[in-house]
Amino acid sequence: MTGDLSPIDKAKFVAAKRAADMVEDGMRVGLGTGSTAAWLVRCLGEMVREQGLRFTAVPTSSRTAELAREVGISVISLDEAKWLDLTIDGADEFDEDLNLIKGGGGALLQEKIVATASDQMVVIADAGKEVETLGAFPLPVEIIPFGWQTTQAMIEETLVSMDVLGRSATLRMNGDAPFVTDEGNYILDLHLKRIGNARQLAMVLNQIPGVVENGLFIDICDTVIIGYGDGTVETRDINEGTVEQDKLDFVETDNLFTDLAD
Ligand code: A5P
Repeated sequence: MTGDLSPIDKAKFVAAKRAADMVEDGMRVGLGTGSTAAWLVRCLGEMVREQGLRFTAVPTSSRTAELAREVGISVISLDEAKWLDLTIDGADEFDEDLNLIKGGGGALLQEKIVATASDQMVVIADAGKEVETLGAFPLPVEIIPFGWQTTQAMIEETLVSMDVLGRSATLRMNGDAPFVTDEGNYILDLHLKRIGNARQLAMVLNQIPGVVENGLFIDICDTVIIGYGDGTVETRDINEGTVEQDKLDFVETDNLFTDLAD
């Protein structure tokens, strides 16, 4: 399943593999979006097919839904599930309090709804996603298409009084046309460089008419699983205050990582 992977893909894979072990029979699980989450979906598909794992999944995008079905995972809607035991997703940045920037893949709205409707949110990421202060990664904000330039101007005006270093917002494009989310909205990427008060910014942005949701996930993530290119995985649980490390090893014979600790 893993083939010849770059160190960064190995890091994403081992984080995903460790997180997949948290899924138990009968669970309702939110599945994130992005390249790291895609590894998770493939790992879970393999567990369904080869180990008989039985769980239902709520995907956070049409892309993830398609992949989940392809690999044999049973997919339901959030309204069918109502509440989830666990959501596992990637992130663009996380800080020491496990606050996040998400939405690099354009799925932040469904991701935030699904993660918030879960007992537990686990983020899987390579070590490069850890930052001291959020904001180097452009902050995605989902806005409705109607009057989007006016919304952009209001956001930029609002940023003047916020604790940030940059204030420009760019419309995300898909070729020559605006990128359109699964909900039919646009994304503005805010180039803030440094976000001094992420909690305040998240609340203020959502007060602006035309803004649907922003990519700051504050007090939503419980656990981060950090993968490294050598197969090391570190699990940090913010509620328990625990940090655990172990190592998955790449076994050339079957092209799968195997948990050395088991
Ligand atoms: C999708 O909208 C995002 O929130 C992703 O979870 C985030 O961009 C991380 O993606 P990668 O795993 O591809 O880095």
